[in-house]
Amino acid sequence: MKAPKPLVEIVSTGRWLPERVLTNAELERMVDTSDAWITERTGIKERRIAPPEIGAAEMGAQAAKIAMCRAGIHAGEIDVIVVATATPDRLLPATACDLQALLGATNAAAFDVSAACTGFIYALTVAEGLLAAGRGEIALVISTEKMSGIVDWTDRATCVLFGDGAGAAVVRKSTNNRGILSSFIRSDGTLAELLWRPAGGVKVPVDYAVLDEKAHLIKMAGREVFKAAVRSMAEAADQALLRAGLTGEDIDLLIPHQANMRIIEATARYANIPMEKVYVNVERYGNMSSATIAVALDEAIEEGRLKPGSKVLMVAFGAGFTWGSLVLRW
Ligand SMILES: CC(C)(COP(=O)(O)OP(=O)(O)OC[C@H]1O[C@@H](n2cnc3c(N)ncnc32)[C@H](O)[C@@H]1OP(=O)(O)O)[C@@H](O)C(=O)NCCC(=O)NCCS
Repeated sequence: MKAPKPLVEIVSTGRWLPERVLTNAELERMVDTSDAWITERTGIKERRIAPPEIGAAEMGAQAAKIAMCRAGIHAGEIDVIVVATATPDRLLPATACDLQALLGATNAAAFDVSAACTGFIYALTVAEGLLAAGRGEIALVISTEKMSGIVDWTDRATCVLFGDGAGAAVVRKSTNNRGILSSFIRSDGTLAELLWRPAGGVKVPVDYAVLDEKAHLIKMAGREVFKAAVRSMAEAADQALLRAGLTGEDIDLLIPHQANMRIIEATARYANIPMEKVYVNVERYGNMSSATIAVALDEAIEEGRLKPGSKVLMVAFGAGFTWGSLVLRW
């Protein structure tokens, strides 16, 4: 199959991570857990925690400013802002609108995409579609997640897994055959209750009973989620590769969603990509939901892991369930 011609490319990226590091040793003092358990089951050693006064929009704006500076664009040039977040600052209006105001991007349409940990893939795919259809020239795609704000810090089964962070990408129409070669997005709403926040919307508003049960915070059936993640990320890897006319052997760098080292290894094994071609930072940040791939991409670029022409496969899975993938020619 002839490789598809990319219509849209990532020009530059940026990231913002809070300074505060929360280690496994500190978690040992907060809940009944151990560094050995967390490391063996997840690969996570530490994660970042944003200060109380910083919200998702501010985190995302910090990452966006770096990406914009690297692309050499100013706020007025941005046509579309797509924010992926599972941790909006509030339910109305969109975090993207707050972020737009922080950037002063007065000519942009701004909206949120709610696809949990698959959010960066979803948001890039939406931006790609808008730009390819001629609805703008420059898009800003931002994943920003303050997971510490929705985690139950007394639930050892979830609180050890998550962290805060934001990543951003400036996206525009492809000029020189680099860019998005394929993408795949999928979801299955019948499995929503395996990973969710049961209350806090209009169906089950927050009241005293909700607060008592902590039903406004994350609940997860870890083992079921694990199995679905491995299965879905394998399908997603297959689909993006197929649509790009490539196989795992053609890929120079796999950037998987960073939730758990065992899921990352299973995905790489399935896609036939050796671990030296897999970007891993889960040990430093834990699961930052949609921001994991955005941050990892920015770090990989900074570390020189992408050369002109490098083929990158991104694969993600999250609440919804949602899953998706994307192949990029750098
Ligand atoms: C959460 C996860 C690490 C748990 O690992 P697991 O091997 O499935 O472990 P289980 O949930 O079966 O629990 C095993 C035991 O460890 C215990 N346990 C759970 N969390 C623990 C913790 N932080 N410290 C110590 N023990 C813990 C459980 O209570 C259980 O004890 P029991 O056997 O006495 O009942 C794993 O299921 C996972 O990574 N799931 C996917 C999570 C994920 O990626 N979510 C986001 C998707 S985007």
